[in-house]
Amino acid sequence: MAEAEYSDAFVFFGATGDLAYKQIFPALQSLARRGRLDMPVIGVAKSGWTIDQLRERARASLQQNGGVDEESFARLVSHLKYVDGDYGDPSTFERLRAELGDSKRPLHYLAVPPSMFGVVAEGLAKSGSAEGARIVVEKPFGRDLATAQQLDRCIHSFFPEESIYRIDHYLGKEPVQNLLYFRFANSFLEPVWNCRYVESVQITMAEAFGVEGRGKFYDEVGAIRDVVQNHLLQVAVLLAMEPPSSYKTAAVRDCKIEALRAMRPLDRSNVVRGQFKGYRDEPGVAHRSQVETFAAVRLHVDNWRWAGVPFCIRAGKCLPVTATEVLVTLKRPPQSVFGEVVSPHANYFRFRLSPDIVISIGARAKVEGEAMAGEDIELIAREDPGDDTPPYERLLRDALKGDSALFTREDAVEASWCVVDQVLGDVTPVHEYEPGTWGPREADELTADIGGWHDPAGSA
Ligand code: BG6
Repeated sequence: MAEAEYSDAFVFFGATGDLAYKQIFPALQSLARRGRLDMPVIGVAKSGWTIDQLRERARASLQQNGGVDEESFARLVSHLKYVDGDYGDPSTFERLRAELGDSKRPLHYLAVPPSMFGVVAEGLAKSGSAEGARIVVEKPFGRDLATAQQLDRCIHSFFPEESIYRIDHYLGKEPVQNLLYFRFANSFLEPVWNCRYVESVQITMAEAFGVEGRGKFYDEVGAIRDVVQNHLLQVAVLLAMEPPSSYKTAAVRDCKIEALRAMRPLDRSNVVRGQFKGYRDEPGVAHRSQVETFAAVRLHVDNWRWAGVPFCIRAGKCLPVTATEVLVTLKRPPQSVFGEVVSPHANYFRFRLSPDIVISIGARAKVEGEAMAGEDIELIAREDPGDDTPPYERLLRDALKGDSALFTREDAVEASWCVVDQVLGDVTPVHEYEPGTWGPREADELTADIGGWHDPAGSA
């Protein structure tokens, strides 16, 4: 297959917004440092700004997020242009077209609310800026299955599926990629990686902070839409999927979709939602909000490999620590030879995804002495202080290259909405919890038969 052409212009809508500030400018500076950004870089927004203001914003962004590297920054700024205008106004897109010059393969990044995706896609198409172009869209992709399908139809009327890059920044994280690598680059996991040996799978994404000024956005979304439908289901898929025949994009994506389709849609009996005390006083949050800042779900993957193994997923704000961790617990040995009382999570694989990165195996080992008695030990296979390549840098580079392996295909987005569709909104009660705790007690029932939740430790 011929290698895809590298993009020859980078356009980002929402240039004066939060995402550009926190993620896009730092990623662009890194790309400039690596010599991968010798092309027009055009910011588009409706802020009434000048190019100088955008440059100042870029500098401020880098000062706060990773630091300014003067040489790379100068390179980035030398390419930076700015188009100010309303996304509903055709003249905005005509000016963009003019700035694109003779670019044949621009990459358009839509760092704008999903309600604007269709408007921007149409503006691009009508001004002739969609031809040969790629388009990157941010999550949340829709609010539920129906709106995601609607959005797909709308974008498809201007862009073919192979030009659409749906971003889930979790897939750009090194330790998340390593889940796939570690599973399929080794032979020792496969014999035990199934319902005969695995007792349960747990994924916890704990955040010790609240909604941090994003109250208005968050109150329209909640934890299930914000991180479960996308980031955490993607992690579950990497743990559950069958081995692909190669690392070719289509092969990997086909195995992922199989795993997603095997996931039984969640119903009320396997979801617990929580809201931290004080959430309703956050700016932008409704006084009687029923939106969850915590969600715990118990999922089943109805296939030969995983029949009967619960996949328990939990995410929350204002929990005791900030850490994301996977624990795959193995069944106990068939016979208790030493008559000991052993923790239900004695044999496991632990993948700590953030803030630090760990792969470890939990085991029992004899304690020195006369008695045949042991202790829990952990064999650490890999330990890193953190991820050096920020996910946005990796994902933008891939999109510029035309490599869609780490982006989510239409069918996968829709299949993951299918999993959560029946438990969105307030179909289940929301239980209050104290900030700094592991969420409402009701969530404990979901894991009562598998030894309870595994609470990740804070980082040192
Ligand atoms: C984002 C969510 O997608 O992911 C946030 O909107 C969440 O609410 C964030 O905090 C977590 O990502 P990371 O990379 O900081 O763990």
